[in-house]
Amino acid sequence: MKLLEDRIREDGRVLGEDVLKVDNFLNHQVDPKLMAQLGEEFARLFRDEKIDKVLTVESSGIAPAVFTALDLDVPMVFARKKQSLTLSAENYTADVFSFTKQETNHIIVDKRFINEGERVLLIDDFLANGQAVQGMMEIVDAAGAELVGVGIVIEKTFQKGRQLLDEAGLHVESLARISAFNDGQVEFAD
Ligand code: G4P
Ligand code: NA
Ligand code: NA
Repeated sequence: MKLLEDRIREDGRVLGEDVLKVDNFLNHQVDPKLMAQLGEEFARLFRDEKIDKVLTVESSGIAPAVFTALDLDVPMVFARKKQSLTLSAENYTADVFSFTKQETNHIIVDKRFINEGERVLLIDDFLANGQAVQGMMEIVDAAGAELVGVGIVIEKTFQKGRQLLDEAGLHVESLARISAFNDGQVEFAD
């Protein structure tokens, strides 16, 4: 998606070997107009999959996921990383190991919000090693729902997440695909 690539070139900052900082439009400050355009594009790419529900993980997946759900006219559910006091005891949980933070998080979804037979679209901000998506896949499986697509805002093709999802036979769509960082410059895959 050219619009997104242009924005990454303009506002993204490369940190070290393998991290892209995009906190002025996606990960901290959020550009709602851009998020609406990303949501519209995900909805277009996955409309034929007959999605019943959009699923993401807090916090940075929420903005693109909610606009995707708006355009598909379905609910959006975000997995929580911390047990909330108001969350019921009946939850699906999965462990997600974060390579960037070197820690394991639990992700939690209340059983009321993901149901047997539902066709689920996962949306996330980054695809790196694919651990977050894998955790969400476990939750979708446990619920007896069907994972019919994975929409990623920014994929880093040089990390192992994409291969993992391809091997699982999933319909994956990434709006920007980064193949390398070279001297602080972003290179996109074609
Ligand atoms: P994985 O899910 O693909 O395995 O990714 P990893 O463990 O490496 O990433 C952990 C966190 O870092 C995730 O956010 C993920 O979205 C984010 N991340 C991965 N690569 C990049 C990157 O190049 N740039 C930025 N800005 N983030 C990256 P999270 O911990 O779930 O946090 P949140 O922002 O969603 O709250
Ligand atoms: Na994320
Ligand atoms: Na993040």
